[in-house]
Amino acid sequence: MELSQVEQYATGAHASLATCDSLEALASWHQQHLAKAGELTAFKKSVGKVAPEERKAFGMGVNQIAGKLEAAFKQKTTELKDAELALRLASENIDVSLPARPHRVGGYHPLTLMLREICGVFRDMGFTVYESPHVELDEMSFQLLNIPKHHPARDMQDTFFVSEDVVMRPHTSPGQIRAMRELGPGPVQVILPGMCYRNEDISARSEIQFHQVEGVLVGEHVRFSDLKGILLNFARRLFGPDQAIKMRGSYFPFTEPSVEVDIKCTLCHGEGCRICKHTGWLELLGAGLMHPVVLKNGGYDPTKVRGIAFGLGVARLALLRHQIEDIRLFFQNDCRFLSQFQ
Ligand code: DAH
Repeated sequence: MELSQVEQYATGAHASLATCDSLEALASWHQQHLAKAGELTAFKKSVGKVAPEERKAFGMGVNQIAGKLEAAFKQKTTELKDAELALRLASENIDVSLPARPHRVGGYHPLTLMLREICGVFRDMGFTVYESPHVELDEMSFQLLNIPKHHPARDMQDTFFVSEDVVMRPHTSPGQIRAMRELGPGPVQVILPGMCYRNEDISARSEIQFHQVEGVLVGEHVRFSDLKGILLNFARRLFGPDQAIKMRGSYFPFTEPSVEVDIKCTLCHGEGCRICKHTGWLELLGAGLMHPVVLKNGGYDPTKVRGIAFGLGVARLALLRHQIEDIRLFFQNDCRFLSQFQ
C-alpha cells in the first residue's frame, strides 16, 4: 500500500464532495468515506501492510488526508445548511404590503334591529323602557289583568305552565301591573319589550316564542285620543308619513273599550293585495283604555286616573318591513337569511 494510492482516493473523495447538493447527499457521502465502516478507515487499517520503515510517514500522511477530508466535510455541511436556510427564508417571506384577507363580521338579528327601532320611536315620544320577568306569576299574567282562573279568555293564549302558579309569560301585559306598582302612584309612561312564550303550532305565522312590545300610559289627563295619536305617530314613523290607521272594536279582558288597530297595507297602500287579503288593511296591534280593575290592581283610583295600553308583535312588523312571508325564518339561524339585514 502506497501513500499515493490514498492521495488518489482523497482527490476523488474531494471531487465527489463538491458535487453534493443536499444534506441527504452529504450524509451518504459521509457514510461512504468518513464513517467507521467507510473507505478512509480501511486505509487507516491497512497501515500494517506497509513496509515498516514507511509506516510512520504513511500513518502521518493518512491522518493528514483524513483531517483535510473532515474539514472539507464540515465546511460543505455549513454551506449547504446556510443555503437551505436562505432558500426557506426566501420562500416563506411574508409580504406585509398585501391587503389583509377579509373576514366576516357578525351583525344584529333583524328582530333585534326591529325591536330597537320600535323602542326608539316610543322613546322619542317620552316612553322609557321597563323590563319585567319572563317567568311570571299566574296572578300577574292573568288574575290581576282581570282574567280570573278558569276564565274563558285564558284560551286566547295557550300558556306554558311552570307550576300551578307560575307561567312562561304568554304576553308582556303582566309588566303593566309591575310597572304601575313600582313607578306609581304618579303618572307612568313606559314600554315593556320582551320575549313571550305560547304553546302554538309552529307555522309561517306563529312561533312558540316571540317578542312583544307593550305600552302603558297612566295619568289624570290621559284619554282615548292619546292612544290614537301615539299609534298614528308610531305607524307613520315606521312606515312613512302617508300612513293611516283604523281602529276596530274588539275584546281584551284588561281594556275597556278595547280595539284592534290596523294600518294601511304597506305593500299595496290600500289598493288590496294578496298580503292584506284584498282588504287594504293589515292588523297591527291590540289596545284600549285600561280596565278599572287593572288600574285598581296597579294601585290607582280608577275614578281619578285613566290609562291606555297597547301590545304589538315585533316579528309581525319585521315581516311587513322586509316583505317576508314566513316568521320561522327568524329563528332558523340561517346566516344567508340573517346577513341580509346588516
Ligand atoms: N296582551 C295582548 C296579547 O298578547 C295584546 C294586548 C292587547 C296588549 C290589548 C294590551 C292591550 O296592552 O291593551 O294578545
